[in-house]
Amino acid sequence: MPEAIIDRIQRLKTQKNALILAHNYQPPEIQDMADMCGDSLELSIRAAKTSADIIVFCGVQFMAETASILCPDKTILLPDPSAGCPMADMITPQQLSARLKELPDVPVVTYVNSSAAVKAMSSICCTSANSIKVAQNLNSREILMVPDRNLARYTAMKTRKTIYAWDGYCPYHDALTSETVTARRQEYPDAVFMAHPECRMEVLEIADAVASTSGMLKYARSSEAASFIVGTEIGLLHTLKKACPTKTFIPASDALRCVDMKKISLTDVAESLENLKGEVKVAEHIRKPAMQAVQKMIEL
Ligand code: 13P
Ligand code: SF4
Repeated sequence: MPEAIIDRIQRLKTQKNALILAHNYQPPEIQDMADMCGDSLELSIRAAKTSADIIVFCGVQFMAETASILCPDKTILLPDPSAGCPMADMITPQQLSARLKELPDVPVVTYVNSSAAVKAMSSICCTSANSIKVAQNLNSREILMVPDRNLARYTAMKTRKTIYAWDGYCPYHDALTSETVTARRQEYPDAVFMAHPECRMEVLEIADAVASTSGMLKYARSSEAASFIVGTEIGLLHTLKKACPTKTFIPASDALRCVDMKKISLTDVAESLENLKGEVKVAEHIRKPAMQAVQKMIEL
């Protein structure tokens, strides 16, 4: 059965000149079928470069929107349109505009986990892979960073800039506590602990490495350690095990499972390609200013 559906996807992909991108948190069968897996930054860069007519984005809404911002002439498909990101929903353009009245001259750095409309109001975007570089390159001592308070605090610590943090968070990463990590470390005393910057400061402080999903992959590949406690969504474990089959990867917590990242099935991908179902298109008046913020980040 999986072979039949994968053959169908491959046939449709060739017929329609499509590219299939998958985030590192996607289920194993989606990662294995995709043309490319990566973190948010890598997937945006790949989307911007493709000559395909259609991009099937196996991820969540904000990722498909970013592809639409960068590739207005292409058809962007999100095979399950209900796949969202609770953190991205923690800020609206109205709320940002109210905050900007209090901080009128402060540049806004917006994490890509946000709506296109919020990106459109921003000076520049960032991802978990480049937030420090983005903040350092801004010609301002003060920054308003939205919507992730943990990424904002981490970036402030690394850059010594004054960063006003929005009070958003990822419900999964933010729920990981240092107690849980410490208990895991006692179970696996030789393991290295890697954490995503969406985790709380108390967790980042005890991490051996803080990195984006693909940053963790690079770290695990080049590290001499044999085992790793993984402080991010469990989907990355598949990516890590495939890349480093002789190493051991342990989830920091079994609760690190993003419901939205698990919504897309192989059948959804085939149906979406067949009927061009789940198209995501950002309106031009939002796309243009959002594009400037995303493009500035990519060019850094
Ligand atoms: P990365 O950019 O590190 O892949 O993370 C995206 C994300 O949604 C983290 O929760
Ligand atoms: Fe959003 Fe968290 Fe899911 Fe990433 S893991 S998509 S931040 S809810």
